[in-house]
Amino acid sequence: MGYRVAVVGATGNVGREMLQILAERNFPADDVVALASARSAGKQTSFGERSTLKVQDLAKFDFKGIDIVLSSPGAKVSAEHSPRAAKAGAVVIDNTSYWRMDPDVPLVVPEVNARAIAGYKARGIIANPNCSTIQMVTALKPIHEAAVIKRVVVATYQSTSGAGKEAMDELLNQTKSFFVNQTLEPSKFTKNIAFNVIPHIDVFMDDGSTKEEWKMVVETKKILDPKIKVHATCVRVPTFVGHAEAVNLELEQPLDETEARRVLAAQPGVLVVDRREPGGYVTPQEVTGQDGVFVSRVRVDPTIDNGLSLWIVSDNLRKGAALNAVQIAEELIRSYI
Ligand SMILES: NC(=O)c1ccc[n+]([C@@H]2O[C@H](COP(=O)([O-])OP(=O)(O)OC[C@H]3O[C@@H](n4cnc5c(N)ncnc54)[C@H](OP(=O)(O)O)[C@@H]3O)[C@@H](O)[C@H]2O)c1
Repeated sequence: MGYRVAVVGATGNVGREMLQILAERNFPADDVVALASARSAGKQTSFGERSTLKVQDLAKFDFKGIDIVLSSPGAKVSAEHSPRAAKAGAVVIDNTSYWRMDPDVPLVVPEVNARAIAGYKARGIIANPNCSTIQMVTALKPIHEAAVIKRVVVATYQSTSGAGKEAMDELLNQTKSFFVNQTLEPSKFTKNIAFNVIPHIDVFMDDGSTKEEWKMVVETKKILDPKIKVHATCVRVPTFVGHAEAVNLELEQPLDETEARRVLAAQPGVLVVDRREPGGYVTPQEVTGQDGVFVSRVRVDPTIDNGLSLWIVSDNLRKGAALNAVQIAEELIRSYI
């Protein structure tokens, strides 16, 4: 017998990808329900190539009988509805930022800390990390095991899809306007995103960091090791899908490039593409639609003791969000429910 699965935020960037991945990976579901706001109730959304689903209003939906909820409707909505679904007996895998740092909610990247899933019973909720954190910790895990990471300095190059479907539309429409000599004022972003880069994602914190940067710090500690120091600068760039990260590491022990490439290539979920020639590295466009976390430009940083630099790229809607959530669901049914 299969499971009953509900996808919350099913009309959004992440929710649509979740439905696509559930279908692609033949997730053992007898029934899949698509939920979104009242605005979308009655609309159709596709369940991969298999069928279309009629979207239902989350606010009116009764979760009784649902086994697993994959949720991505934004933090405020999740704060209200994820506990409601858990109370009705479902295990909720939540993509929003709302539950990630709750000590009673595991924060999971299956290739890194799958065993943390066991903690789901406290609240019935498992959190999916932020997209930038997922791809970084997946690549850092084998390096940490091999040489112990002391400090991470990361600059991100994050695509507009990370800010939702309307943000992607803003990039497209601003780009088109530019070519017909019109201006389209920013609405989802604070400044023009077309032909520009913006060093600001999510709200500002008291210490001058943005919340996106703070998330990379605290989530890396929660998932990988509380002792690792992280300093992040998160930047929105005018791409549609795929986040890239320039990562500089200070390690406790030396790790040369050959050994670093070897341990990275052996890590589940990581692919190393690192030829020292023009084009011998991966870019966001090339990873769109792919499942892996790609690592290029592996090189020793001689300016510090045991320094190593990496370029990490992944599809933020897949491994950075929907795929990671479905992998958690797969692990959950394999080992727990
Ligand atoms: N995009 C990423 O890379 C990424 C990665 C990790 C986590 N996340 C998180 O996932 C969440 C969704 O991101 P997204 O990119 O998919 O955003 P999106 O494209 O803007 O989609 C938002 C989804 O939430 C639904 N929704 C909004 N308000 C709702 C309400 N009151 N009740 C029920 N459903 C509601 C929307 O339904 P309607 O269409 O009916 O409005 C839509 O399905 C966010 O919390 C985001 O931080 C995103």
